[in-house]
Amino acid sequence: NKGNYEHYMQKEIHEQPESLTTTMRGRLIRGGSCKAKSVLLGGLKDHLKTIRRSRRIVFIGCGTSYNAALAARPILEELSGMPVTMEVASDLLDRQGPIYREDTTVFVSQSGETADTLQALHYARENGALCVGITNTVSSAIARNTHCGVHINAGCEIGVASTKAYTSQIVVMAMLSLVIGGDTISNQARREAIIDGLFDLPNKVREVLKLDQEMKDLAKLLIAEQSLLMFGRGYNYATALEGALKVKEVALMHSEGILAGEMKHGPLALVDENLPIVVIATNDACFSKQQSVIQQLRARKGRLIVMCSKGEASLVSPGGSSRVIEVPLVEDCLQPVVNIVPLQLLAYHLTVLRGYNVDQPRNLAKSVTTQ
Ligand code: UD1
Ligand code: M6R
Repeated sequence: NKGNYEHYMQKEIHEQPESLTTTMRGRLIRGGSCKAKSVLLGGLKDHLKTIRRSRRIVFIGCGTSYNAALAARPILEELSGMPVTMEVASDLLDRQGPIYREDTTVFVSQSGETADTLQALHYARENGALCVGITNTVSSAIARNTHCGVHINAGCEIGVASTKAYTSQIVVMAMLSLVIGGDTISNQARREAIIDGLFDLPNKVREVLKLDQEMKDLAKLLIAEQSLLMFGRGYNYATALEGALKVKEVALMHSEGILAGEMKHGPLALVDENLPIVVIATNDACFSKQQSVIQQLRARKGRLIVMCSKGEASLVSPGGSSRVIEVPLVEDCLQPVVNIVPLQLLAYHLTVLRGYNVDQPRNLAKSVTTQ
């Protein structure tokens, strides 16, 4: 049921404040006078010791689910102090890459039925690793075959383009980082700030959804483009990859997410006054580096659309030289949840304006059950 919306993708983008609330329900503990704020993931509590004792954590997934894991990797590394590596499921299988008994493997999948991810799960089990699932579908093959896991509880997602599952996956993996990180005194302030940020996140997403009309206007400007680049780094490298995936899969426009730190190693050659480039430059530890990327793109007359934190337009677009998208500032590790929303809206409006099928893009299926 699409309710008042024209398409499922549109409905699923707009229901993110509610889906995120459901994802966190019963899992965040407010704390009190003598009790610290904390996180409870019922599906993991009996396995935390094994996870903490493992040698590394390996995230495995495809498409948007891979991108969500990439967005969560920095906070998991920071809070756990463990090495965290990333695997695209098909590539792990192609290489028959090394997976050991001492590894914790984490399978991220909305449907829980993706063939490559499921195959990689069988492979990891055969190699003796602890297998953890992060899934949206209760009783799916991946949920059933993992040793333990967390349901993201985002509600049924119908549009082929994954939107609300992406933001809920990131939130679950941020909570996972908090529980694996445990309650060491040294990062208590950091942990509490993240938990406060989680409580407030649905409100911030509600706020960023108000950019809907602005994104529609931007889509009108981009409707006839051949290509759209997205530059990100740090927590928002994943945002660039995921924004580009949305644009290519539904709007059928070539789009590429680029790690800004790689700019001078090739992509800079593409920059001219015609090619539109989205630069994600919200305020975090990478901000000054991203400001310098903006300067260098501008020096080559790049046609920039800059996403920045509210009130900071003048820091990224001196004299109003580029178009800006201002988004609310949240805790750095939760910023990808806010930043993807305008890009989801942009992909949605571009698709409708270009006259393509938003909910069922040509050649694609919601769940990829063949290899
Ligand atoms: C569970 C209940 C929830 C109830 C809550 C009350 C289910 C599905 N969930 O939620 O309805 O409100 O207790 O305390 O009954 N699992 C995997 N692989 C996965 C995902 C999950 O093995 O990919 C396992 C978990 O380890 C766990 C079970 O499935 O044993 C349920 O996981 P989850 O729904 O995340 O647990 P709770 O949040 O505790
Ligand atoms: O169900 P899964 O999360 O395992 O699906 C993985 C990918 O097939 C999926 O995310 C795909 O990339 C989406 N169509 C992206 O919107």
